[in-house]
Amino acid sequence: MTHVIITGGSSGIGLAVASIYAGRGARVSLIARSRDLLEQAQAKLAASTGAKADSIRIEAADVAEEPDVAAAIRRCEQAFGPCDILVTSAGVVEPGRFEELDSASFQRQMEINFSGTVHAVRAVYDGMKRRGKGRIMMISSGSGLIGIYGYSAYCASKFALHGFAQALRFEARPHGVGVSVCFPPDTETPQLQRELATRPCEAEKIMGVVRPWPADAVAKRIAGSIERGRFETFFGLTLYLLGRFGPAVRPVIHWWFDRAIAQDSTSAAHNRGVSERQT
Ligand SMILES: NC(=O)c1ccc[n+]([C@@H]2O[C@H](COP(=O)([O-])OP(=O)(O)OC[C@H]3O[C@@H](n4cnc5c(N)ncnc54)[C@H](OP(=O)(O)O)[C@@H]3O)[C@@H](O)[C@H]2O)c1
Repeated sequence: MTHVIITGGSSGIGLAVASIYAGRGARVSLIARSRDLLEQAQAKLAASTGAKADSIRIEAADVAEEPDVAAAIRRCEQAFGPCDILVTSAGVVEPGRFEELDSASFQRQMEINFSGTVHAVRAVYDGMKRRGKGRIMMISSGSGLIGIYGYSAYCASKFALHGFAQALRFEARPHGVGVSVCFPPDTETPQLQRELATRPCEAEKIMGVVRPWPADAVAKRIAGSIERGRFETFFGLTLYLLGRFGPAVRPVIHWWFDRAIAQDSTSAAHNRGVSERQT
């Protein structure tokens, strides 16, 4: 029976991916920090997919702590057998202009989004290589394809994943191990709800024009890409063009972003002027 391990599987995109595999009768292991959320996810999956509760395993661990995530994955493999598919969805986003983000925030986003993925991959990689099979799907972001105002730390962490995936793909392929990376757009999840509260208005002007995708639709495409063994998965025309033709497309998008940001600054300055005249 296929064993799918999903970091960040208790919520959002990770949970939606878990739902697909649980519905297909796979054994699914979910890893995240909050045990409460994990238990809720386990109960929800059992109720919505008809999967047996004992085919959904939960492990509370912080992916930023390598020994913890390695031990959690070891326990999952002891219980459910070797990992066939690893999906690294655990991630956080803390928007803010560079000068507003302290070093701890930068470090947190790099350690969870980037290093947390590396730690999970390291925990399954040797076994996959030995068995000559397995697939690793890393969840980057549209912010891993183009820089976004107010997302310097998040973009850095998600761009880093692309480099990691590209290099590892070459090393893993001769051993029968597939490496994939995907770049979701804004997606309706608890993370997006929290993010919107602190997203700078300049970023909202740029990103707010695209309607967020439902998590189920993103998960469906991710599962389809895993099946087809695709290396990169894009969502929507703009991200597809950026992913495939980045250097050619980026200057046009930069021009549009600059214009939107300048208009926003002008209207903010105008509003400030009006309120100063009124006082
Ligand atoms: N939603 C979007 O618009 C969007 C767009 C592009 C890419 N993404 C990426 O997609 C992935 C999933 O995001 P989402 O929107 O589904 O977020 P979400 O609903 O907040 O889910 C995030 C999951 O990651 C877990 N997690 C966070 N930090 C962790 C840590 N240090 N160790 C272990 N687990 C951790 C969370 O559980 P705990 O907090 O309990 O640990 C939760 O299960 C992230 O990598 C995100 O960057 C999201």
